[in-house]
Amino acid sequence: MTRSLQEQFGPIDIYVFDQLLRGNLSPGMRILEAGCGYGRNLAYLLRAGCEIFALDADTAAIEHVRQLSASLQTGLPPQNFQVGVIEQMPFPDASFDAVICSAVLHFARDEDHFRAMLSELWRVLRPGGLLFCRLGSRIGMDFQRLQGNIFLLPDGSRWFLVDEEMLLDLTEELDAVLVDPLKTTIVQDHRCMTTWVLRKRNG
Ligand SMILES: C[S@@+](CC[C@H](N)C(=O)[O-])C[C@H]1O[C@@H](n2cnc3c(N)ncnc32)[C@H](O)[C@@H]1O
Repeated sequence: MTRSLQEQFGPIDIYVFDQLLRGNLSPGMRILEAGCGYGRNLAYLLRAGCEIFALDADTAAIEHVRQLSASLQTGLPPQNFQVGVIEQMPFPDASFDAVICSAVLHFARDEDHFRAMLSELWRVLRPGGLLFCRLGSRIGMDFQRLQGNIFLLPDGSRWFLVDEEMLLDLTEELDAVLVDPLKTTIVQDHRCMTTWVLRKRNG
């Protein structure tokens, strides 16, 4: 029986889906989603036979992802799904072919926290591996600055927002290859979300 697109992919982020279509994320890969939430990006990847690991600060979210994996009979051990913080992850260096961090980095408290998370995401990625980040930015919209890189959003949230210069400087600092030009979606009068996709150089 042919499954509908919705049955196969569910509510997957459209930009994660884009990486699938381009073969940057594919079956058989060992993939970490850092800040996985309730696993909307993981259902397809779990079914596709990826070796999935996931981490989130929220215990209920990780319990949900463990149950999702079990219900899909992936055979992955529950220890692949861990409660923890991105700035201090329990995974060894160079463990993953790809790391996904979607809609999380703008919750950084300040630049030190942002950098600590980024440094961990980079540490656990193997040479040649792909880091996919989707994060709040101010590319294309103006926001009121509160302090440092923390800005006030129209709905009252306080987000750590990057800009183009910062992302390009960080790409250079990491000596990373920018896989795609930065792509930003402007959600009218609400927020800007930028997709930042990097590859770690081999050797
Ligand atoms: C908006 S949700 C995004 C979830 C998922 N990535 C998605 O795209 O649906 C943000 C998630 O990041 C988690 N989170 C925020 N800061 C974190 C941190 N420092 N370490 C681990 N998880 C964190 C929250 O618990 C929440 O589940």
